[in-house]
Amino acid sequence: MSDIPCLRLSNLMHTYTANGLAPRTVLNVPTWQVAHGEHLLLRGISGSGKTTLLNLLSGLLTPTQGSVEVLGQALSKLTEADRDRFRAQHVGYVFQTHNLLPFSALENVAMPLAFLGVPPRHYRPRAAESLAQVGLAEWQHHKPHQLSAGQRLRVAVARALIAKPALLLADEPTAALDPETGAQVMDLIQRVCHAHKATLIVASHDPALSERFAQVAELRGGTLQMASAEKVGLL
Ligand SMILES: Nc1ncnc2c1ncn2[C@@H]1O[C@H](COP(=O)(O)OP(=O)(O)OP(=O)(O)O)[C@@H](O)[C@H]1O
Ligand SMILES: [Mg+2]
Repeated sequence: MSDIPCLRLSNLMHTYTANGLAPRTVLNVPTWQVAHGEHLLLRGISGSGKTTLLNLLSGLLTPTQGSVEVLGQALSKLTEADRDRFRAQHVGYVFQTHNLLPFSALENVAMPLAFLGVPPRHYRPRAAESLAQVGLAEWQHHKPHQLSAGQRLRVAVARALIAKPALLLADEPTAALDPETGAQVMDLIQRVCHAHKATLIVASHDPALSERFAQVAELRGGTLQMASAEKVGLL
């Protein structure tokens, strides 16, 4: 496992062809690797392809060309059902839109374990523990519309972390939050990822996040350029 990076992209190209519009190539990444346990910030202006890239890394989106390997597994070689299982086991994803379902916080957080066939008597205490970890022990039975934006985000974080994934993807996790709450959520995400030795990729254009990451990748014109925080003048 030590020789296999957490993530490897080769000859990755993604082109959207929608509603009779001219095809638009959003990403073109000849090669890219992310080592185990790395914490990386993915920057880029709105529309540069950050969400598209995270969707490709999670296997939710299939690239037009090229391959995405997570933990040495080429995602395109899995059937859709196996890809869903692989994601539930190994990849946590905090979506830009949170994507919570109209169930209780506890049920939302438990979802990856329920999907993996863990019985309720086992997943309920783990979901309660995961909610407690994000400071929401008292909010287990609340539904998303009964929670604040910051609390909803923390439910999404608890859900993404419950299966102790090797890779955590977070898309603009601080966008809807005040700076203080944003910093608390980022502290939490980074602390848990350190504790589990998980690889973390955070997509954001929030300048306040830059100083937290030694590794920064910039999406520009569909290409991905690595810049250490030092190089971009942040350290
Ligand atoms: N389903 C889709 N069909 C067609 N084009 C799409 C689709 N999803 C995204 N795009 C286009 O791909 C480009 C990249 O979108 P993406 O959502 O990945 O950007 P982003 O960097 O995440 O932006 P933001 O910072 O605003 O979230 C945009 O030009 C967008 O219009
Ligand atoms: Mg986005």
